[in-house]
Amino acid sequence: LPLALAALAVGYLFGAIPFGILVTRMAGTADLRSIGSGNIGATNVLRTGRKDLAALTLLGDALKGTAAVLIARAALGEEAALAAALGAFCGHLWPVWLGFRGGKGVATFLGVTLALLWPAGIAFALVWLAIAAATKYSSLAALAASLATCLAAAALGATPTALLLAVLTALLWLKHRENIGRLIAGTESRIGGKGGPKA
Ligand code: G3P
Repeated sequence: LPLALAALAVGYLFGAIPFGILVTRMAGTADLRSIGSGNIGATNVLRTGRKDLAALTLLGDALKGTAAVLIARAALGEEAALAAALGAFCGHLWPVWLGFRGGKGVATFLGVTLALLWPAGIAFALVWLAIAAATKYSSLAALAASLATCLAAAALGATPTALLLAVLTALLWLKHRENIGRLIAGTESRIGGKGGPKA
């Protein structure tokens, strides 16, 4: 248990690095908090008009989760890998550096899943791409992909991972409650569309 707690803490520190905030501040774009959804994720970075920064944010927020899991697994084993995944995801959602006002977890979900059970990570990416291409809703794509990924992990017989992903999916959905409200109301912004929900 102490090892799992250590992995949880290290994962948290990785997850709490807000790449969206870092890259947009370095590039001097508009403040993420005051545009679009106000979120710190790649989707909202895209609303600054900088695709390159959005790609960097996606990469950074995913790879911090991948790295946390791989390091914990190499140092402390498989249980620690699961704990690090939970820590990294929670770090992204509630980073101490941002007064616990973090992101919605989509990129970090992908990153930890690729490290825990890569076929489930591929499933996540494919479902996200398919739904995003069909609807242009980033949020809807993430909601569907996270759920599909839990089911894929369960179908692959990876029970501890599937249970962890179910917890992460529940948190991801919780963090998307405003998006869910906008999707139902028909006011959610589309990828490539102008402005965003608050603009
Ligand atoms: O990654 C979050 C995405 O699913 C929605 O982002 O900025 O449209 O709330 P946003």
